[in-house]
Amino acid sequence: MVTINGLISDTQLTESSILAIVELAFKLKAQKKAGKGRPLLAGKNIALLFEKTSTRTRAAFTVAANDLGAHPEYLGQSDIQFGKKESLEDTAKVLGRMFDGIEYRGSNHAVVEGLAKHAGVPVWNGLTDKWHPTQMFADLLTMKEHFGYLKGLTVCFVGDGRNNVANSLTIGCLKVGINVMILAPKKLQPDVELTELAQQCAKKSGASYFITEEQSALNTVDVVYTDVWVSMGEESLYEERITLLHKYQVNQTLMDKTGKNSIFLHCLPAFHDLETTVAQKIQRQYGLSELEVSDEVFRSEASLVYDQAENRLHTIKAIMVASYYTI
Ligand code: CP
Ligand code: NVA
Repeated sequence: MVTINGLISDTQLTESSILAIVELAFKLKAQKKAGKGRPLLAGKNIALLFEKTSTRTRAAFTVAANDLGAHPEYLGQSDIQFGKKESLEDTAKVLGRMFDGIEYRGSNHAVVEGLAKHAGVPVWNGLTDKWHPTQMFADLLTMKEHFGYLKGLTVCFVGDGRNNVANSLTIGCLKVGINVMILAPKKLQPDVELTELAQQCAKKSGASYFITEEQSALNTVDVVYTDVWVSMGEESLYEERITLLHKYQVNQTLMDKTGKNSIFLHCLPAFHDLETTVAQKIQRQYGLSELEVSDEVFRSEASLVYDQAENRLHTIKAIMVASYYTI
């Protein structure tokens, strides 16, 4: 029997709550495909606060709310008084009087914690600089769908090993018994706090946690995962990150060193070609046409990135349902 009071970070989750939400997402996905979705959140109003841009998270929360019979309302950074004329506490208390749930995406993790403290309704973290917990659920659902099990798999996160996506993936995986390897240069390896938490989770579940700069031991890896080298808000760091990470690109040479049936995951958006203005600017400045993942790997059969993106919807729906019902 599991119920959650919103979702702020991976630290609040237990193994059984993670597995129950993944199972519920499975069911909700099947129900939607069969045209049998139910309006479990009928009459609820959901605020979507975005201080950073988003495609998947915004779309997933919007469609999930609509599918569940709730009404989502997008409140962008420049639309509301928050941060300019109104404090976090006042904003949280006012929104909590009108809305039944609040999603927040922004930089400062303390903001989502403050919303949860003062709003009196479930608050969901749609990404902060520290955690991206809704992404982690989509990652686990994608692995479960593909392999049929989670415990005992080995995931290798390659690149900026201390970013929000890496943090949530690490803790979520270790809690359910998935081995985690972080392949990153020293400067971009997880900090002491995250490492200690990860070690505790690994000890509890019996999974292994391993941080390395070397592309050895990749033969045991089932899932190769990467994310952008420069996260939102870090745009001045391209040169430094390219210098640190160009040897950590996920390309076919790296994939060939991994397990025979390994898959590739990426939270997206990804810099794998020159079809964006940012990628074109980087190419002009640094001469690179692909960054964290090669176009070949991104488009390969091993790449499940679009299933993973779709699974944002089904898992966010499960997280919302688990915030109001015992599942
Ligand atoms: N993966 C993810 O969070 O994507 P968006 O930034 O588009 O929401
Ligand atoms: N680490 C990335 C994730 C985007 C979904 C960022 O924070 O920009």
